Amino acid sequence: MGVKESTLSVGIGKLKLKSPVIAASGTFGYGEEYRELVSLSSIGGIVTKSISLKAYEGNKPPRIWETTAGMLNSIGLQNEGVGAFIESKLSDLKRLPTAVIVSIAGDQKDEFRELAKRLDKTSIDAIEINISCPNIKHKSKSRLFSQDPDATAEIVRAVRRNTKKPLITKLSPNVTDITEIAKAAERAGTDAISLINTVIGMAVDIDTKRPRLGNVTGGLSGPCIKPIALRMVWEVYNAVKVPVIGMGGIMNTEDAIEFFLCGASAIQVGTANFINPRATTEVVAGLREYLKKNKLTSIKDLIGKLKI
Ligand SMILES: Cc1cc2nc3c(=O)[nH]c(=O)nc-3n(C[C@H](O)[C@H](O)[C@H](O)COP(=O)(O)O)c2cc1C
Repeated sequence: MGVKESTLSVGIGKLKLKSPVIAASGTFGYGEEYRELVSLSSIGGIVTKSISLKAYEGNKPPRIWETTAGMLNSIGLQNEGVGAFIESKLSDLKRLPTAVIVSIAGDQKDEFRELAKRLDKTSIDAIEINISCPNIKHKSKSRLFSQDPDATAEIVRAVRRNTKKPLITKLSPNVTDITEIAKAAERAGTDAISLINTVIGMAVDIDTKRPRLGNVTGGLSGPCIKPIALRMVWEVYNAVKVPVIGMGGIMNTEDAIEFFLCGASAIQVGTANFINPRATTEVVAGLREYLKKNKLTSIKDLIGKLKI
């Protein structure tokens, strides 16, 4: 019996995706550079670069450094602001044959609330709340929102009250107990949890004795963080009822399958896009083959099926 394409479809709350492979925030632009290379209709969705209320300039250069099996970035959420995004980018994005998930970021609760209100009136498919970027310092706090369960709940609640769009809350791995934060987001009304954002890291130039990044520290991504991401996806999958979207170092189909087995209902591909712009579609094709080879009728048959 052949496996039909529909077997890759998954539901993330109300959000129906034709495939569980999503392009991660900050690594895929608005899909514009990838359109020629990637079959966008085969992937589940694109998460935009995080968008704030007002434009952000980002951090001072250098902002990228390649590490052993990964990369450090300190871009700092450079973006044009939600008004310009809605006016100049959204209609083009919505013509793409895939779901548009808009990532939002802000300095305080009111900003998140306002972003939710503005985006609720648009045709986007879902919102991903980024409370986990290690490259911006919140005016009011020395910690990231997602390093504190109460702050996490406060932001999720503020967004939830102002939009009916499906909500995904993106968590930081830079915490002691990720389940505590995930449970707080669930209680506050998120429809799904995505993880992980980047791991805070550093690199040093021994000749100049300076940090490699203008911002001193940055976010580590790529294959080197995959074991951390898998562990956290597994922990969160066992702690909450809402679906989990896994990411962190997924370079190919095998990596993606590890995440499904650890409990991810969908996965995001980030850093891999810089190395292989076709990574997302190749993972989709690989998953189809894997299902066929293993005579599975749905990707859902893999979710959380880790044998302990
Ligand atoms: C250059 C770069 C920019 C990023 N920008 C964002 C961003 O704007 N918002 C966000 O939530 N995550 C951002 N991320 C984090 C990724 O979406 C992803 O969570 C992380 O890189 C781990 O996945 P990966 O190892 O597959 O890249 C960025 C990552 C990179 C490498």
